[in-house]
Amino acid sequence: MRVLVLNGVNLGRLGKRQPEVYGSTTHAELAEHLVQTGRGLGLEVEVRQTDSEAEMVGWLHEAADEQLPVVLNPAAWTHYSIAIADAVVQVPRVIELHISNVHAREDFRRHSVVGPYVEGTIAGLGLGGYDLALAHIAATSPA
Ligand code: DQA
Repeated sequence: MRVLVLNGVNLGRLGKRQPEVYGSTTHAELAEHLVQTGRGLGLEVEVRQTDSEAEMVGWLHEAADEQLPVVLNPAAWTHYSIAIADAVVQVPRVIELHISNVHAREDFRRHSVVGPYVEGTIAGLGLGGYDLALAHIAATSPA
């Protein structure tokens, strides 16, 4: 089964961006790791990142049209983008993911506009959260 891992704005800077919060692994290294994780779980994982809200909306439409499960880190869009939320609601399975514990940071990070439309949310478990999200999808998808 194909699964999309979609990372939003500023996540292309993983490894350089606030390493004390997001770690020292780059996005390319994360992507390679998740493809391997997926292989072990019998999933065909595709990892994408964009700083363009329009591009992200397009990928979510693709997931809706092709009925693909999505692991989504909407990054800053989490907190204000109704456009992303309106696209998420069309996708059958979305796991929302945050690398950092958004509840233990600034107040504005506590609110997610996509939260009401996702199957579940993982936050604060670092990059390992992505592996957990993929394991969940593999364990709960029909064979
Ligand atoms: C983030 C948390 C967001 O508040 C922030 O804007 C991000 C990353 C996370 O993965 O912890 O860019 O989604």
